[in-house]
Amino acid sequence: MVDQVTFKAGGNDRAYNVLTGSVGPQVVDIRKFYAETGMFTFDPGFTSTASCESALTYIDGDEGVLLHRGYPIGELAEHSSFMEVSYLLLNGELPSGAELDTFKSTITRHTMLHEQLMTFYRGFRRDAHPMAIMCGVVGALSAFYHDSTDIADPTHRKISSHRLIAKMPTIAAAAYKYSIGQPFVYPDNSLSYTGNFLRMTFGVPAEKYEVNPIVEKALDRIFILHADHEQNASTSTVRLAGSSGANPFACMAAGIACLWGPAHGGANEAALNMLHEIGTPDRIPHYIERAKDKNDPFRLMGFGHRVYKNYDPRATVMQQTVRELFKELKVTDPVFEVALQLEDMALNDPYFIEKKLFPNVDFYSGVVLSAIGFPTTMFTVLFALARTVGWVAQWNEMISDPNQKIGRPRQLYTGPTQRDYVTVGKR
Ligand code: SDX
Repeated sequence: MVDQVTFKAGGNDRAYNVLTGSVGPQVVDIRKFYAETGMFTFDPGFTSTASCESALTYIDGDEGVLLHRGYPIGELAEHSSFMEVSYLLLNGELPSGAELDTFKSTITRHTMLHEQLMTFYRGFRRDAHPMAIMCGVVGALSAFYHDSTDIADPTHRKISSHRLIAKMPTIAAAAYKYSIGQPFVYPDNSLSYTGNFLRMTFGVPAEKYEVNPIVEKALDRIFILHADHEQNASTSTVRLAGSSGANPFACMAAGIACLWGPAHGGANEAALNMLHEIGTPDRIPHYIERAKDKNDPFRLMGFGHRVYKNYDPRATVMQQTVRELFKELKVTDPVFEVALQLEDMALNDPYFIEKKLFPNVDFYSGVVLSAIGFPTTMFTVLFALARTVGWVAQWNEMISDPNQKIGRPRQLYTGPTQRDYVTVGKR
């Protein structure tokens, strides 16, 4: 542990304080670096940059550790529920029985959408990607809740947070229904958060829908695995959007847009598509060679991570969930066998060993979501549904941070220096 670091620049020594968290790497406080040196630091992709202080989630990438408010993800996945983890992320402590009941009933009371919002879907083509619909409809929530967009008001922040967590399943299920031409199914608040979502997604008005408790438990665990993950790209997007004072609905729409990318939340859809393209175990070596070929843009989707240089602990739980679900539902899927063999071959290949590339949360999630009945286009929608509580918790933390300022990075300029305008006749 050090207290200060010194930069030597042009004969001047500048000392900068080192800040220490409760666990994990220390940080060098360089907030005065430009003012004192006239130089910027340079860190595209923020590989060595801490953008904020947070008490929500801790990741040790080398050890494959993920803690939410100090609780290991494996223990939460085994013993908790998505509603309880949501309460934990928002409030900092596990709830008592009464606190959890109150939280669940509060969320349940906000599951319906304004009826006008349901007409927004009609503007999309039926074959629109559900993530495009999510970006549009979640952003449109800004137009419906003028009574709660004063982000300086803690009560407005609280009701907006609860509305977002409560309405995402309804919005997501409606996006799916719209894509298959079925009528929307309204929430049934006698069901659990996850059971309500399953019924809105797979239920039809013509028949009674019974929630399968095995599927409900598996999906609720998958939501837990996706709830929050430190300062990932979409969370950083939500924080940056929120730093300007934008309303929470617009900030979450920005997060959804970022999550959609195949390098981030879109990887679960891309990973299952890749497994289907590989098709059979004998074709795995060809794809592993493609992933290693610098001239081939192909990457093993669901593999590698900016932070985890060990096994993503969520992937471990996800793989277990596939095994349990397949056993309990008595189903098999040859794609799971391809995934297992691909993982085994990649983890024994020097390229993946040297670059510390392991399966991440997205590698197995598609297999289990497909087994539950979701089309691949819905996988990132489910990721967004679950990550909303993390985005909301991080947004609240940012707004409440006394050090919070509008995010405004600088650059290394490499464009033309000043030159005079030349009229078109002289060019
Ligand atoms: C998520 O940040 C989060 O926490 C995200 C997330 C969350 O919960 O919010 O965990 C969710 O987004 C998980 C990641 C899902 N994405 C994928 O599975 C897409 C495939 N993976 C990669 O594109 C990549 O691994 C990233 C984007 C995830 C991480 O990229 P980095 O940290 O910028 O690393 P890199 O691209 O610089 O790769 C390092 C090296 C490179 O080789 P060199 O240039 O050093 O020779 O590893 C290689 C890469 O070519 N590499 C891969 C690879 N991932 C990295 N090679 C083959 N297959 C891969 N999947």
